[in-house]
Amino acid sequence: MILWAGLLLVHCCLRLTGAAGENPGLETCMRCSQGLHCKTKGGYSFPRPCENPTESLNTTVFHNVSLSTVMKCERMQKCSLRLGIKAVVQVTDSIHGVSFCITTAGMMMRCKTFSFTRASRERMSGLQVEVENNCTEVSPNQQVQVTVTTVPSYCGMTWTSTYHSPGCSHEDFRRLVPECITGRLSYKVNPDKKELSVNVSDMLNDHNYHLRLCRKDFICSGTGAYTLIQKEQPIKSATFPYSRPLPCLCIEGWSAVMDAPRVQVCPFKDRVEELWFGITFDPLEETLLWEPACPITALAALCQMRDDGICVDFPHSSQNVTREKIAFSKVDPHDRLCVKFTAGSQSWTRCPFADGRLQAWELVTTRTEGREEVKMLSQISANFSVGLCVKSKGSPECQTTETHNVQVEKQKAVDLNLKGTFCNSCLQVKRLDVEYAATVIHCLKLCSDSSPLRSDLTWVFVLTGVCLFGVICVTLALHVLLSVYRRRKQKITGVRNGEKQIEPPPTCVVSVLQTQPVVHGRVFIPDSPQCGNNEKANLLSE
Ligand SMILES: *[C@@H]1O[C@H](CO)[C@@H](O)[C@H](O)[C@H]1NC(C)=O
Ligand SMILES: *[C@@H]1O[C@H](CO)[C@@H](O)[C@H](O)[C@H]1NC(C)=O
Ligand SMILES: *[C@@H]1O[C@H](CO)[C@@H](O)[C@H](O)[C@H]1NC(C)=O
Ligand SMILES: *[C@@H]1O[C@H](CO)[C@@H](O)[C@H](O)[C@H]1NC(C)=O
Ligand SMILES: *[C@@H]1O[C@H](CO)[C@@H](O)[C@H](O)[C@H]1NC(C)=O
Ligand SMILES: *[C@@H]1O[C@H](CO)[C@@H](O)[C@H](O)[C@H]1NC(C)=O
Repeated sequence: MILWAGLLLVHCCLRLTGAAGENPGLETCMRCSQGLHCKTKGGYSFPRPCENPTESLNTTVFHNVSLSTVMKCERMQKCSLRLGIKAVVQVTDSIHGVSFCITTAGMMMRCKTFSFTRASRERMSGLQVEVENNCTEVSPNQQVQVTVTTVPSYCGMTWTSTYHSPGCSHEDFRRLVPECITGRLSYKVNPDKKELSVNVSDMLNDHNYHLRLCRKDFICSGTGAYTLIQKEQPIKSATFPYSRPLPCLCIEGWSAVMDAPRVQVCPFKDRVEELWFGITFDPLEETLLWEPACPITALAALCQMRDDGICVDFPHSSQNVTREKIAFSKVDPHDRLCVKFTAGSQSWTRCPFADGRLQAWELVTTRTEGREEVKMLSQISANFSVGLCVKSKGSPECQTTETHNVQVEKQKAVDLNLKGTFCNSCLQVKRLDVEYAATVIHCLKLCSDSSPLRSDLTWVFVLTGVCLFGVICVTLALHVLLSVYRRRKQKITGVRNGEKQIEPPPTCVVSVLQTQPVVHGRVFIPDSPQCGNNEKANLLSE
């Protein structure tokens, strides 16, 4: 049974030799239970090959074996770690002692041996005795193989186990065990000056101390900010400027000794939102680029910002963020086009074109004669899909009614012909010659006095004019017919009265059915001077 006896702190366990009391031949780091006389051979020995016992022995000689780490201190910052082994042994006449052997990686097995005096062995035969050994030095975080054997070493009567000593993360080790002493860092951030002031305490005495800023990845690589604190310096502090409060920016400190352990504190480790800066755009390649300043597990996707502040992802635009640069190619630089970063359950949206400096195209609206004219102007030659759509009340969606492809030359305005558009119509414009483009919806504002209503009224006027004209023509024709009839009647009366008619006057014929040329709403009727109705015809034409 293995009992991990926990960590037992033994300050100044330098014992007087006399402390071993009845066991003068025993090293101070070893102990046998009272009544048993033990001796140790100085130093370590190598294990012996096992032999078969001459008499039959109970194979469970060892009980309750426990392993632990014991700290032995001479003075402050001068402590070392020992492996503590405790075991209960069943004493018999043929067991002359106990051997504790340990191996560590790359080291030969070494043993410390207790031998029981013959007298006490015979006296205590059949009893269980406790033996304890705190002699073997171990390092923090070390794996050791422990074997307990009898002396002489009988085959099949060994106890074996593996033990892992605690690491430097243990609070006491960091203050007391030199291999674990890193110093302690405390800091204050001055965000206005972008400065970090650092104090060092509990560092290894009598040694200089290194302090620097670094960016943590697999290793922490220096940013260039570095200082060496001299051991004589009364106040152990330093101030470092920083450019951005990145989550991987850390302060690192270590003593100026070989293989000194280092301490790192990262003041901004929760400032993940600081990572999503530095998005750049290559206008020639139309590529959006971003490189994480710190290693992070995240997703980056392109999205379009809506009026309500929700950024809607472009399908299939999502990319895993690794250490490398990520690139979105064929992107339309538009102020609505944004990058959404998602890490864990949180997401952040950054709109690199929001300032409009790189925007490639725009819709230009002008008002002429109460009408709204929309033109498209582009800094580059590009192809667009231009759709007409209708917005129904209460719905953000715009129902597309028709779509055209429009080719726009560099710096040449293209008029988007809006004749025949109605109230609540909108234009839906999107670039086609790129992979990722924002869809821009532009709704017409001046719809109350737009053209459709005006042209309807014109038609009413034209129709009224034509009808009036028809009525007047019929009236005129009737009038002419009436005059002719009267003259004929007079002539007949004249002939009858003996008057002579030499030449008959030319017949006045006005055809009502004749199509009249209509010029600017004026109706012309050919003059018939002989008919004596010029007055009325001219009157109409005014
Ligand atoms: C071994 O260490 C333990 C724990 O600190 C202590 O109680 C014991 O007295 C030590 N034994 C010897 C022989 O030093
Ligand atoms: C060996 O010792 C254990 C405990 O002391 C005991 O229970 C067991 O019976 C013994 N076996 C033999 C074969 O003596
Ligand atoms: C071994 O440990 C058990 C449980 O901790 C205890 O009851 C028993 O007395 C111990 N045996 C000896 C011989 O110390
Ligand atoms: C560093 O130590 C000085 C002097 O003891 C103290 O005034 C200052 O507040 C400390 N700064 C930090 C960041 O702990
Ligand atoms: C990102 O990585 C995860 C895990 O490796 C994977 O399941 C997922 O499909 C990847 N997503 C993309 C867009 O590559
Ligand atoms: C636009 O489309 C036309 C015809 O489809 C094509 O010839 C032209 O290269 C395209 N222009 C751009 C800038 O992609």
